[in-house]
Amino acid sequence: MSGETSASAPPLRIQVEGGPAFEMAEGEDTLLRAALRAGVPWPYECSVGGCGACRYELVEGEVVTLWPEAPGLSERERRRGKRLACQSRPLQDCRVRVRLEAPPEEAPIPPRPLQATVVGRRSITPDMDEFVLQAPGSALFLPGQYALLHPPGVVGARAYSMANLPNAEGRWHFIVRRVPGGAGSQALFAALHPGASVLLDGPYGHGHLRAGERDVVCVAGGSGLGPMLSVARGVLAEAGPRRVHFFLGLRQQAELGVLREFEGLDPARVQVHTALSAPDPGQPWAGHRGFVHEMIAPALPAPLDQYDHYFAGPPPMVEAVQQLLMVQHRVPFGQVHFDRFV
Ligand SMILES: Cc1cc2nc3c(=O)[nH]c(=O)nc-3n(C[C@H](O)[C@H](O)[C@H](O)COP(=O)(O)OP(=O)(O)OC[C@H]3O[C@@H](n4cnc5c(N)ncnc54)[C@H](O)[C@@H]3O)c2cc1C
Ligand code: FES
Repeated sequence: MSGETSASAPPLRIQVEGGPAFEMAEGEDTLLRAALRAGVPWPYECSVGGCGACRYELVEGEVVTLWPEAPGLSERERRRGKRLACQSRPLQDCRVRVRLEAPPEEAPIPPRPLQATVVGRRSITPDMDEFVLQAPGSALFLPGQYALLHPPGVVGARAYSMANLPNAEGRWHFIVRRVPGGAGSQALFAALHPGASVLLDGPYGHGHLRAGERDVVCVAGGSGLGPMLSVARGVLAEAGPRRVHFFLGLRQQAELGVLREFEGLDPARVQVHTALSAPDPGQPWAGHRGFVHEMIAPALPAPLDQYDHYFAGPPPMVEAVQQLLMVQHRVPFGQVHFDRFV
């Protein structure tokens, strides 16, 4: 699969009503990826049909819907002609209706499809592995962003966040939790051994590290560990003195192996707080018992609006942290950055 327009077939033209037009190669792209690659600020969050942020209306033309039952749209929205750009593959020139976002201050890195090879894999907890992929060219992304991986033999892509920093060597690290009964994560665990190939498409995501003066709060629930490690590593790579307060939500003592991931991070600048939501009563645990968001305000030396906040994890955790920051503590919107794992 190539993300570039081919010389054999003329590119398709997508016209946004009252907005820009852009081109894409027939049969190759989703509408969302083509728009983002063209620098069009199409709204999106998950890129996998789960959130509904990329919805639009088709005014003219024809598209194939990749996943007709995608939960990002309700039946009512479908009946009213709404579609998801991340699940649409245009077959002709199209005219579409969508409310574009304001252009970002800095031009985003355009996503591109890359054929990657597994060059490393290690176990972090009984149900979480790190996969190291090697792809051509530099690994271009911002700390906290994600890519789409196409698990072999599975319909549809899955989103996984990079755990490392962008680099010239083309290395992409992902920390993946094996979800019981989950088709995509089970296929990755079964097939991605060193030497295997996988299609990677990225980068995507808004929950990435921004430059700033304030200290940073990172909140990670379960597999949200990867992007938050990337954000923490990004802060440490800066010349400035910013510190990181890292809040980690796990279930049980058996997952505490993830604490080894922090060993290389300067303890003078990264403070780690761990909560276990369901500690095993048969094993010792002197730390916080309960949900991770409950420990944030009591553990920080300053009010929450004195920090920039980053968080990633399952939707209930993301909603609880949003509620804490934006409703209870009135942290300004511009200081809150996250991607929801739908
Ligand atoms: C922005 C973002 C970042 C994420 N980062 C990580 C991470 O770093 N580590 C991690 O472990 N997990 C991460 N996840 C969760 C991950 O993407 C998967 O949801 C999770 O691994 C479960 O996938 P599964 O295939 O095993 O489960 P399933 O229940 O089989 O699949 C669930 C996911 O697959 C999509 N899906 C299901 N069927 C189809 C289909 N037919 N066509 C297209 N899509 C389909 C759904 O939208 C949903 O996202 C992230 C999710 C998002 C949205
Ligand atoms: S971005 Fe398309 S449904 Fe989430």
